[in-house]
Amino acid sequence: MTPPIIETESLTKRFGQRFAVREVALSVPAGTCFGFLGPNGAGKTTLIRMLLALARPSSGTARVRGVDVAADPVRALRRVGGMVEEPRFYPYLTGRQNLEAWAALLDRDARARIPAVLARVGLEARGGERVSRYSLGMRQRLGVARALLSDPELLILDEPSNGLDPAGMAEFREMIRGLVDQEGRTVFLSSHLLDEVQRICDAVAIVNHGTVMVQGSMRELIEAGETGIEVDCDDVGRALGVLHGLPGVTAVRNRAGSRLLAVGSTTREAAMGITRALVEAGVGVASVAKYEESLEQRYLQITAGATPSSGGMPPPPPAPVAG
Ligand SMILES: Nc1ncnc2c1ncn2[C@@H]1O[C@H](COP(=O)(O)OP(=O)(O)OP(=O)(O)O)[C@@H](O)[C@H]1O
Ligand SMILES: [Mg+2]
Repeated sequence: MTPPIIETESLTKRFGQRFAVREVALSVPAGTCFGFLGPNGAGKTTLIRMLLALARPSSGTARVRGVDVAADPVRALRRVGGMVEEPRFYPYLTGRQNLEAWAALLDRDARARIPAVLARVGLEARGGERVSRYSLGMRQRLGVARALLSDPELLILDEPSNGLDPAGMAEFREMIRGLVDQEGRTVFLSSHLLDEVQRICDAVAIVNHGTVMVQGSMRELIEAGETGIEVDCDDVGRALGVLHGLPGVTAVRNRAGSRLLAVGSTTREAAMGITRALVEAGVGVASVAKYEESLEQRYLQITAGATPSSGGMPPPPPAPVAG
């Protein structure tokens, strides 16, 4: 297995008495799109700033590409592109000129990459316009373009889809997946847009009050929630009795209208077994569907719960008291 491209150990950042990031152990596999999720004030930006050497940890370490960021930021961040919060540009220069100014600070090939990165983010037609005339979404894209100038192995983006409209969001999704699937880069992005993250990311960490509550692949996280087969039928009372008696069904829940959820496996075999049993018992079945909780439901459970769930994380110390 390849070593993780980002790895933190007991990473902590304190502002006075307040912990913004607390004892975080994060492990991000290379070649994935990794989502870093958490409510406002959870510590996402603070952690990202430490990864990019924009802030110093109070204690603990952050390693990027195997190199301790605080000890050797230049080597750690050589092939890393970042965008933190809203990217800032020279407003009176064009998008392309802003990239040229940035490229001058990088390696010799950076300038030659400008046409390709502008095309990558869908700004090739507007690169000649002043940034002061750009919309918020165009600035976000220019920020990603700038982060791509160093031809990074790893792209670290703080809330990159801020301010994008639905069409922009869909394009953004496609762009990020392209960076990962076609170009083999790793993308680490923070967000609180759960739907977006569920569609884009392969793996996630959920952070709350500076502590990582859970991390792992999207699949693992969804499967750790409630799953089952949902049926819509004409005789809920009788169906309840039938489903309760079936092997592999651990519970049955009443859903809206005439629907029931048989908690348990979501395989085709399970669905067929349930349908057969209901029909044999004389229950009319209108529909049968696989049910999984959304990332949003999982997230709300995890961030509402006081203790972190499994995933190798130690329980957090008591929450800091403000003031
Ligand atoms: N420079 C600073 N000085 C003091 N406190 C800070 C500083 N930067 C961040 N904090 C505090 O650290 C905590 C985490 O902030 P951070 O910006 O990392 O959260 P976030 O998860 O990025 O939130 P959002 O979703 O709103 O961007 C907050 O309580 C914030 O007030
Ligand atoms: Mg933030």
